[in-house]
Amino acid sequence: MQETDLSDEKLLEIAKNAARNSYAPYSNIHVGAVIVTDDGKTFTGTNIENSSYGLSICAERVAIFNAVSNGYRKFKKIAVITSDGKGIMPCGACRQVLAEFSENMEVITLDKDGNVIRFKLNDLLPHAFRL
Ligand code: THU
Repeated sequence: MQETDLSDEKLLEIAKNAARNSYAPYSNIHVGAVIVTDDGKTFTGTNIENSSYGLSICAERVAIFNAVSNGYRKFKKIAVITSDGKGIMPCGACRQVLAEFSENMEVITLDKDGNVIRFKLNDLLPHAFRL
């Protein structure tokens, strides 16, 4: 957890570092994420797989659950990347979980040429489910 205004490039570097702790012996896809609270604190997450495959969890959900369990509820951005520096888009389940807390947070990753790309969560998951 830090309290600074980090560049998107720096956030992707933090996310890539988080991917070093990934437990992904089944897919071998090591994903890291860092989520930024509305007041600039950061929480990381990485994917954690299970031999009962359906129990595996994505890096984005671990990051947001880490933040929420530390008392944070509003987020401005999340950066996601693999340990080998490839961009990755949040899956549909993660989009729904992210939208629960901040429907218009920014999602940051890399395109196939390594350029930073940014999306609004609203555009990635229009009309998110709400009770
Ligand atoms: N994964 C993530 O951590 N985030 C995503 O956005 C997509 C997929 C993980 C889940 C699984 O451990 C591995 O990547 C392959 O699907």
